[in-house]
Amino acid sequence: MKILLFADPGIDDSLAIIYALLHPDIELMGIVTGYGNVSVYDATRNAAFLLALAGRTDIPVMRGASQPLSGTHTIFYPEIHGPEGLGPIIPPDSFKADISPFELMFEIIETNMEDIVIVDVGRQTSLAFAYNLRPELMEQVKEVYLMGGAFMVPGNVTDVAEANFWGDPIAVNVVLNKAKKVYITPLNVTNRAIVTRDIATYIFNQTRGPYKYLIPAVTNYYAAFYDEVMPGIDGSPVHDAFTLYFLLNKDKTYTIRRDVRVAIVDGNRGQSVADLRMVYEEPKFEHYIVMDFDYNDFLADFIRVNVGEEG
Ligand code: RIB
Ligand code: CA
Repeated sequence: MKILLFADPGIDDSLAIIYALLHPDIELMGIVTGYGNVSVYDATRNAAFLLALAGRTDIPVMRGASQPLSGTHTIFYPEIHGPEGLGPIIPPDSFKADISPFELMFEIIETNMEDIVIVDVGRQTSLAFAYNLRPELMEQVKEVYLMGGAFMVPGNVTDVAEANFWGDPIAVNVVLNKAKKVYITPLNVTNRAIVTRDIATYIFNQTRGPYKYLIPAVTNYYAAFYDEVMPGIDGSPVHDAFTLYFLLNKDKTYTIRRDVRVAIVDGNRGQSVADLRMVYEEPKFEHYIVMDFDYNDFLADFIRVNVGEEG
């Protein structure tokens, strides 16, 4: 499966990048970065650094949006993701990221239109720009996967809003209205995709891969934040990596088709809305929301991919 990944690394974005690199069935075609958990500059550097750790500098990194379409002041989250976005890890000053122009993404899509999908696990601003700049091309992309939203469950940034959809609700609505087919992995499922400290230690002990030290370091850093907001889970949800798991394991999840929209007005900003009545309006768009999954299968897959074939 060829994937163009949009991300704002960010700890769980990093785990998603690692999952994509290590998964034998994923071909990572490029990473488009954006502001979100950290600034677009830190996010870009982190993405390039993660690729370099595995010797995969052949995969292009493209710098995307630096702020939301609304132009509102952007909040970053160093207290959650670390001062530069990789928990306790700071890429050395000597590391120079090789950045490709944003427009390269259109070339990648055009050349691979038959079998490429887009996965966006950050704020959706860069993706909305892409639909604005090249609508005739982007509207042909067969599937788009978004990590975001919270459907009739609490948000994580406000009582009703999840962070990605809250960050740029205008952009999410652009994508929802323009994309051919959208799959959404909301907090309803990603909050339950928990990787515990013990699992991170287990992966550390089992693998000889390039992320041996990084995986427990970032997971434990993230877990310290979740100790405060979700006491007792002894780990952290891996929202973004779950989205990649879903993409390859749809048949093991419970997914519903409903039209989705995101509130823009203050007060409800970022709230994701879908018609969840027993008898609901016939959907007009191809929007699919993941509502349930098999946790044990997810965890076994996450461990298998991160430990790697050679262990
Ligand atoms: O709400 C979870 C999302 O917000 C994830 O993509 C995480 O990286 C944060 O940005
Ligand atoms: Ca993210």
